Amino acid sequence: MAIAIAKDIFWTGYIDWNLRDFHGYTTSRGVTYNSYLVKGTEKTALIDSVKAPFASEMLMQVAQLTPPAKVDYLVVNHAELDHSGALPLLMGMMPRAKVVCNKKTQAILQAYYGCYDWNWELVATGSTLSLGDKTLQFTEVPFVHWPDSMVTYCPEVKVLFSNDAFGQHYCSIPRFDDEVPLADILAEAKTYYANIVNPYSKQVALALAKLGALDLAQICPAHGVCWRSHVAEILKAYRNWSAQKSQAKVLVIYETMWESTRMMAEAIARGASMVPGVQVKLLNARLVNKTILATECLDAAVIALGSATLNNQALSDITGDVSYLKGLNFTGKASLAFGSFGWGKGGAEQLDAELDNLKWERLASPIKAKWRPDAQCLSQCLEAGKALAEKALATATASSYEKLFID
Ligand code: FEO
Repeated sequence: MAIAIAKDIFWTGYIDWNLRDFHGYTTSRGVTYNSYLVKGTEKTALIDSVKAPFASEMLMQVAQLTPPAKVDYLVVNHAELDHSGALPLLMGMMPRAKVVCNKKTQAILQAYYGCYDWNWELVATGSTLSLGDKTLQFTEVPFVHWPDSMVTYCPEVKVLFSNDAFGQHYCSIPRFDDEVPLADILAEAKTYYANIVNPYSKQVALALAKLGALDLAQICPAHGVCWRSHVAEILKAYRNWSAQKSQAKVLVIYETMWESTRMMAEAIARGASMVPGVQVKLLNARLVNKTILATECLDAAVIALGSATLNNQALSDITGDVSYLKGLNFTGKASLAFGSFGWGKGGAEQLDAELDNLKWERLASPIKAKWRPDAQCLSQCLEAGKALAEKALATATASSYEKLFID
């Protein structure tokens, strides 16, 4: 059912309640692909589309509002396949439609779909398109999060179609932020930022500066619900996340084999919890998926990494997680490696070496336990936990979780 978003603007997307794996990102609340139909007095435009398997369902939504053959423009803010997959089918049903996008998007679409014969209208930052009583203004926001990323603004209704920016992997038939629990969508927006957008935080800061002058009544992203009652909160969250602001929070991420590394991890967490005002979380890499781990890392000031040793290596779940975290480029963290071994070197040393690749500050040499941590080793872990917590308190740049969202 097409839903009105503003006067003569309608949601024509698809809610994928069943998706749990979005190219490796665990989507526990499913995924929504948003598309919007904007009707002007003279022209009609579709902004973004949906993933290929849902093209016909999107087309049915459009057909409820206007004959597809009468759509004049298909605006493509970003070429990634979750937003462009339906285009080949749509273009077959919309023979007069021009595809409106920037040059980079055009090149990517042509590579994926071989669509050299589509009717193109290329735009760049500052370009506008008149629909009659409505105007579409385009701003390129490169690398938020692909090189081609762009947003579209309609000044007459003060709506920003922001594509991936400000999105959430979240399913809900109501389409607005004030119709669902705010804590849920802010949490999903944070997960989305940590797992998709974070490597491009510098570009996000540039984009926020570019968009700062816009009068925003609504932000309509390509995933999740539209922001209309909490625009200030999501903008503040993006400013803080892009600045890599952290809380006084210590994460202890570990993988264990015969429980020795778990005992060390728990001792570190106990020590950290002795420092008032510090949030402490203990995460077993074999049980907690990397999407959640990355989300927890986004606003943690301090992260300890621990592993047992197997065949002179750290265990494979935590090394996989470290590889994922390196790509996400969380900056400004302090850290410590730890772990157990039986003979030779292994887990703790490997994780300690990775701190250089993660560009995290090393607070001390790795703590190691041969076979089982004895009382002295556990005491060392407890003291290290306290020191990690003191460091978190001293370096946190946001005084609380709420401060990351709300003034
Ligand atoms: Fe939602 Fe970058 O695609």
